[in-house]
Amino acid sequence: MNDRLRRFKGLLALGIRRQKGRVLFLVGLLAVLWAGWVLFPPLMYSSTEQPLKFSHLVHQGKDAALTCNDCHPFRPDGSFAGIPSIKVCADCHGEAIGTTPDEKRLVEEYVTPGKEVPWLVYSRQPMNAYFSHVQHVKTAKIACEECHGDHGGSDELPPFQVNRISGYSRAIGGASTAGKAILPTELMRMDTCAECHEKNGRRSSCLECHK
Ligand code: HEC
Ligand code: HEC
Ligand code: HEC
Ligand code: HEC
Ligand code: HEC
Repeated sequence: MNDRLRRFKGLLALGIRRQKGRVLFLVGLLAVLWAGWVLFPPLMYSSTEQPLKFSHLVHQGKDAALTCNDCHPFRPDGSFAGIPSIKVCADCHGEAIGTTPDEKRLVEEYVTPGKEVPWLVYSRQPMNAYFSHVQHVKTAKIACEECHGDHGGSDELPPFQVNRISGYSRAIGGASTAGKAILPTELMRMDTCAECHEKNGRRSSCLECHK
């Protein structure tokens, strides 16, 4: 019994010695994979905080009770207003309603001097891609959530991340490396557009989106 065990141990040691090269290779491979999956992605993106904390949720509560359309309307010509101008905020925040530091900054730094808040747009597409909200929201009746996830119901804003190489927002270009998505809109890129178009029986030529 003891003899067998000793022989087994001996064989094992010999085996490991013979496999040393392979073991080293495996360790190296794991190290490189780890660097690629864990270490590299944060280095790949630069991160900026939004100028103010903004809570969509607060504005849909009983005190404000606003709908998406109150702040993100379509203009009479069909164009989409996008992120609301400071005039919309001034309707309620001419003076502070509450006591939070971010509301105080909103009033002092933006509403009173009439300055726009420089919001960073997560879903901003590159200049060469054309997108129109009216066709998707009004004509095709697609809900905001379908493309933007639950941003419209969020209580706080994630940092705005930009790919250091392409200069694009992570929300449109960045693959969710290691399965870690930072936004539901992370996959708002050419494949996402094309997939939904195909599902809707729409065969888009390159020039439909790239004008
Ligand atoms: C009080 C006005 C207000 C209301 C009401 C409002 N929003 Fe917003 N929305 C904003 C402001 C300000 C921003 C810019 C800050 C940010 O990114 O959240 C914004 C940004 C967004 C963005 C981010 C776009 C991007 O890619 O950066 C989405 C999506 C959005 N709103 C959807 C919605 C939806 C859906 C609703 C309704 C459920 C809604 N909003 C209601 C003011 C509002
Ligand atoms: C219909 C009125 C109304 C409008 C329009 C409105 N807000 Fe507010 N906002 C509120 C109310 C109510 C609160 C909650 C105040 C409190 O009790 O702190 C609030 C709170 C805030 C706060 C503080 C939240 C916190 O937790 O720190 C910020 C920042 C803010 N609003 C930004 C904006 C911006 C930016 C806009 C314009 C896009 C805007 N609001 C438009 C009613 C409004
Ligand atoms: C079919 C997908 C889709 C739907 C549906 C959609 N969006 Fe967007 N949204 C986008 C894309 C793509 C962009 C970036 C556009 C660009 O950069 O040219 C964007 C940009 C935005 C922005 C920032 C725009 C700016 O230029 O300031 C806001 C705010 C926004 N969407 C809100 C909404 C709201 C509110 C709804 C629902 C009424 C909605 N979106 C529905 C895809 C969508
Ligand atoms: C969830 C489904 C969906 C997604 C995602 C989507 N689309 Fe569309 N798109 C549609 C449908 C449906 C139509 C047809 C609308 C109509 O009936 O005119 C359309 C039409 C269009 C048109 C032609 C109408 C116009 O505005 O000139 C363009 C361009 C377009 N989409 C670009 C894009 C781009 C760019 C993206 C990605 C950033 C995108 N779409 C994402 C469903 C989608
Ligand atoms: C349904 C809309 C749509 C269609 C159709 C489409 N694209 Fe795109 N394309 C986009 C969007 C949105 C982006 C930006 C997001 C991204 O990089 O994925 C993009 C990005 C690209 C880029 C990268 C550009 C850059 O600046 O990094 C290339 C290259 C490209 N498209 C080529 C094509 C070609 C070639 C075709 C035709 C075979 C085509 N696209 C058809 C929507 C579309």
